[in-house]
Amino acid sequence: MWSLYFLSVWLHIIAATVWVGGMLFLAFVIVPLLRHPEIQPQRAKLLSLLGLRFRIIGWITLAILLVTGLYNVFARGFTFQDVFAGSLWEGEFGQTLAEKLVTFGVILLLSALHDFWVGPKASALAKQGNPSENLEKWRKAASWIGRINLILALWMVALGVMMVRGRPF
Ligand code: HEM
Repeated sequence: MWSLYFLSVWLHIIAATVWVGGMLFLAFVIVPLLRHPEIQPQRAKLLSLLGLRFRIIGWITLAILLVTGLYNVFARGFTFQDVFAGSLWEGEFGQTLAEKLVTFGVILLLSALHDFWVGPKASALAKQGNPSENLEKWRKAASWIGRINLILALWMVALGVMMVRGRPF
């Protein structure tokens, strides 16, 4: 039992590392690089290909985080009865978990908006090759959703640490 719990927490942290690390790499390495004049002609194509590739990795890691997260909760001795009777949500751990699940729900919603609507729309307009106000609007929307999701992801890591070590405030 301990080894499965150990494996689950390990997988949970690895999945968080890949997802959060991937978004940080995109924000601080890839996006600034795409502004380089030599890359300009290939920019729309590269961003679209990178986005499609990271989309797959992103959703796999979010699924792993949900499954291992749920397993971690039950491996700590909580039962379905605790969930539905409400006793799970009473203590500091439960309240932090509730906050984490709500934030996770928002992340899933924003990720779906970004990956399956706003992102593809911006890529399709960029591929048309003529810069327009419309393209700018969709490109900005995609960037802002990405930024908000990154901030929420960093907060999720903080909530994870608080669940294990207690809230500092
Ligand atoms: C974006 C999604 C998530 C991220 C980035 C994330 C991140 C983390 C991190 C970094 C830890 C380890 C903290 C430490 O050992 O100090 C952790 C622990 C934990 N997470 Fe998550 N998590 C996510 C989603 C979830 C979800 C959806 C659940 C519940 C369904 C969950 C439940 C837990 C539990 C129960 C622990 C404590 C593990 C233990 O027993 O030590 N997490 N999380």
